[in-house]
Amino acid sequence: MPHILFIDSNEAEIEAPFTSGDTLLHAAQHAGVEGILAECGGGCSCATCHVMLNTSWDGQLDPPSDQEADMLTFAVEPTPHSRLACQVILTDAHDGLRVQVAKRQY
Ligand code: FES
Repeated sequence: MPHILFIDSNEAEIEAPFTSGDTLLHAAQHAGVEGILAECGGGCSCATCHVMLNTSWDGQLDPPSDQEADMLTFAVEPTPHSRLACQVILTDAHDGLRVQVAKRQY
C-alpha cells in the first residue's frame, strides 16, 4: 500500500498508508498524526490543516486552487511549499511523499 511520511508537530515521523483518492488530511488523521487541527472538517475555510511538502516533490503535484491559495494566506508563516492537507488528493504517484506538519496552526 502506498504511504506518506509525515513529520508531525512533535518531530515524530509517522508512516501513513493511503488509498488513491484519499486526501492528505484523511491519511494524516487515520494515522494519528499530531498537529493538524482541521477545524472546518476539510472545507477549505480554516487553514488549520497547514503542511509543507518536501521540496523534492516540487512540480509533481497539482498546484493549489485559487481558493486554497487564498486560504493559505491565513496560515501561520506559509512557505512556497505550503498546502492545505484537506485539498491535496492523493494518487499512487504520491507514494513516499514527505510532509512536514506546521509547528503551529494559530
Ligand atoms: S481542514 Fe479547514 S482548510 Fe483544511
